[in-house]
Amino acid sequence: MTSNQNPTGFGNLSRRGFFGVGAGGAALPLLSGAMAASAVAQTAVPDPQAPANVDLRINGQEHRLSLDTRTSLLDTLRDHVGLTGTKKGCDHGQCGACTVLMNGAPILSCMTFAVMAAGHDITTVEGLANPTGELHPMQQAFIDQDAFQCGYCTPGQIMSGIACIQEGHAGSETEIREYMSGNICRCGAYPNIVKAIMDVNKGGLGS
Ligand code: FES
Ligand code: FES
Repeated sequence: MTSNQNPTGFGNLSRRGFFGVGAGGAALPLLSGAMAASAVAQTAVPDPQAPANVDLRINGQEHRLSLDTRTSLLDTLRDHVGLTGTKKGCDHGQCGACTVLMNGAPILSCMTFAVMAAGHDITTVEGLANPTGELHPMQQAFIDQDAFQCGYCTPGQIMSGIACIQEGHAGSETEIREYMSGNICRCGAYPNIVKAIMDVNKGGLGS
């Protein structure tokens, strides 16, 4: 090869030019029509912020929402559905304030994309009282045992407390404390939270 020869083997197109123009540029004429169309299609990056329809079932009600698919379930509940009972503490999976139930199991809604909840039953603190307004036994026990001060952590504590009993981890104070350790209370209401859960464990969760 002489110094004048182009190492790409493509006439006057330099190596830099060949790789620099991209699939949509000067390289395309080298491809067949179908291959060129395919190359262009592959370079079309979908807009991650483009809204998508997401169907959610929250507290027994169906909701069709148009969401950026990166929206957390927590922000969806609070900002798109208007259910502000579920609280945002850390937004990083550290405090438990955002706990809701998905198919009866506790999840951190700040760490769950709304699209991951599609097709599942989501229960928030707003969905616990019965239609007549009678409180869920766990809500009532928190009142009876004075198990909160500022109340910010309380919705998450209540949802986790219900799961604690449903999953059979409320047999002792130690067991409850261990199960509930992901729910932080900056007011330090832990002793009365444990009492409330023990009370409900004795009396039952109701229907
Ligand atoms: S807000 Fe979700 S764990 Fe703190
Ligand atoms: S009652 Fe205030 S953070 Fe728990």
